[in-house]
Amino acid sequence: MIRKKIVVLTGAGVSAESGLRTFRDSDGLWEEHRIEDVASPLGWKRNQQLVLDFYNQRRRDVLKAKPNAAHFAIAQLEEKFDVVVVTQNIDNLHERASSTKVIHLHGEIFKSRSTVDYKLIYKCEGDILIGDKCEKGSQLRPFIVWFNEAVPMIEVAAKEVSSAELFIIVGTSLQVYPAAGLINYVHATVPKFLIDPKAPDVSFVRNITCIAKKASEGMSELTDILLKKY
Ligand code: APR
Repeated sequence: MIRKKIVVLTGAGVSAESGLRTFRDSDGLWEEHRIEDVASPLGWKRNQQLVLDFYNQRRRDVLKAKPNAAHFAIAQLEEKFDVVVVTQNIDNLHERASSTKVIHLHGEIFKSRSTVDYKLIYKCEGDILIGDKCEKGSQLRPFIVWFNEAVPMIEVAAKEVSSAELFIIVGTSLQVYPAAGLINYVHATVPKFLIDPKAPDVSFVRNITCIAKKASEGMSELTDILLKKY
């Protein structure tokens, strides 16, 4: 039996119930930090310590977090479907919930990279400190895609999305491009689902069902329906 292909686009909301903060909710990270200070090349140029502290804290938070029912429900779809997760998140909760195909558009918190050679990437479980250097002697930085930086995985993600037979969006405000633009690569006839208690406006999208629930509840229900229906 041919397994239908599902692509799941996730954002910070899918990890909210794991205790990780989102960005644009009322208690979001961008309420406390200026994006240009901690998530931009200019910020890195101005104050590397401030940027390292921000991501060192994110990494400690992720180390303490566990996948929630939404991550497990997405992984459970692999029982019957060919599932690709395209995430904007830098945590590894999809992988820890056993999703096998995860594309990180905005990087990964447990990696660091050279600042002179983007191909030099290292595992990083602890803090990155000033003075931590790559083998070419440059200061290490978080393996994160900052604002105004290229999104190397966007073409790979767009290719996966364009061949989706079912498309699920969980926990993203769809405000950051090019990630948010991926929805335009899904064929109009493909059934789409959006799970978010405060869903962004998707009235321009054809064939979409909005489930105004938290990710753990909404995704568990959707997985049950899809596993029964197909
Ligand atoms: N379940 C489902 N959705 C939730 C939950 C929850 N428990 N809690 C919040 N949400 C929703 C919010 O309603 C919002 O629509 O998750 C979304 C979070 O939006 P953002 O905070 O903007 O996060 P995201 O869309 O992932 O941001 C995209 O912006 O700052 C950059 O690089 C950063 O990857 C990030 C990108």
